[in-house]
Amino acid sequence: MRQHNNQNLQPENNSRRQWLKSVGLGAGAVALTSSVDSFVKDLHAAGMPTEHFPSATPNVNDGLVRLSSNENAFGPSKKAAKAMQSELLNLARYTDATVDVLAKKIAKQEGVLPEQVVITNGSSPILFGYADWITKNGNKLVTSMATYEGIPRGAEFMGADVTYVPLAADMTFDLDAIEAAVTEDTTAVYVCNPNNPTGSMVDAAKLTAFAKRVSKKAQVFIDEAYIEMSDAYPANVQSKLVAEGHNVVICRTFSKIHAMAGQRLGYAIMPAEQATSMGRLLRMGGVNYLALVAGMASMDDHENLNVMRKRIKIERDKLIGAAEALGQPYAKHPQGNFVYLDTGMPHDKFAEKMKAQGIKVVGRTWPGYDTWSRISVGTPAETDACVKALKVVLA
Ligand SMILES: Cc1ncc(COP(=O)(O)O)c(C=O)c1O
Repeated sequence: MRQHNNQNLQPENNSRRQWLKSVGLGAGAVALTSSVDSFVKDLHAAGMPTEHFPSATPNVNDGLVRLSSNENAFGPSKKAAKAMQSELLNLARYTDATVDVLAKKIAKQEGVLPEQVVITNGSSPILFGYADWITKNGNKLVTSMATYEGIPRGAEFMGADVTYVPLAADMTFDLDAIEAAVTEDTTAVYVCNPNNPTGSMVDAAKLTAFAKRVSKKAQVFIDEAYIEMSDAYPANVQSKLVAEGHNVVICRTFSKIHAMAGQRLGYAIMPAEQATSMGRLLRMGGVNYLALVAGMASMDDHENLNVMRKRIKIERDKLIGAAEALGQPYAKHPQGNFVYLDTGMPHDKFAEKMKAQGIKVVGRTWPGYDTWSRISVGTPAETDACVKALKVVLA
């Protein structure tokens, strides 16, 4: 029951090769695995704990290196995997009590009250629930151009009035312009920090001051999906704003640094009354048990998170190096697990060319940035393959 039912949890190299073959990823993937293996040896030699590097979506057998969805290709903490394995037979009960345990753990970590925490299957339900909340509470959202679409597109889809403020010349958020766009009848302001797709990070003190002022007029929603990957973490987290009673929501996910996108777990921190009503709606049907168990183990695995931050930075620097060597403009100082660059060609053409080189990059664009594309970092071998492909496509 331990491992033979779930080959993707096997750290052992031969098994992984066999599994890659069995799902049809073929010789290219096996070659990637070999260089991954040598990287793992290097990390071991450097005293860093390592685990296997899972395929992002074992069930999508398109043979491409998947650098399109900002997943964390390094895979979850081994401790999280073990925690799930040991709980596989405990799935008969609903999870309310376990949700409460995780809420307490998150509350302790973030310095807020458990009743201010809403836990869901990934953070996307929070984003869409929040878009719905906007439509019922004044219907007006202010955000930036070139930001994550969950809330703005969701709100637009539901009929809200969304104002998109242009980025500053250096591609960071123009917080002053965003503040100037907020009026007395604005419902909410969405700030993604670090931002997807630009990766840029707002200065922590500036954002705190901004949120304190703006939240007097409209609720400020700060999406911190990638915050644990940033150099300034944890000094730059904004949970304290909720603890201090400001009209602010903080959103987090286990899909990114915790590498649990496939398991689905996310949470928001918000004023308690709102958390009660929103939590009731968003948690309808509960949160999946193995995600809760894995999430708690991963939160405790600080060593894994530190190593993950280092690994992601190493891979991100490779993509930055490639953009610089090729002379392609890119959004500077990215702090997530992705880089946003101007390829000089329409994004769909770039995606097609990269696909021909075996690399899948994001298949959509952001209005105003048609020649810009976002590339996620992968494992060392995957990022190297991407750099090679970039040299061909952008030569
Ligand atoms: C900024 C941001 N927020 C939220 C999400 C949603 O992630 P999930 O539903 O996996 O938590 C994503 C996914 O890419 C994201 O980039």
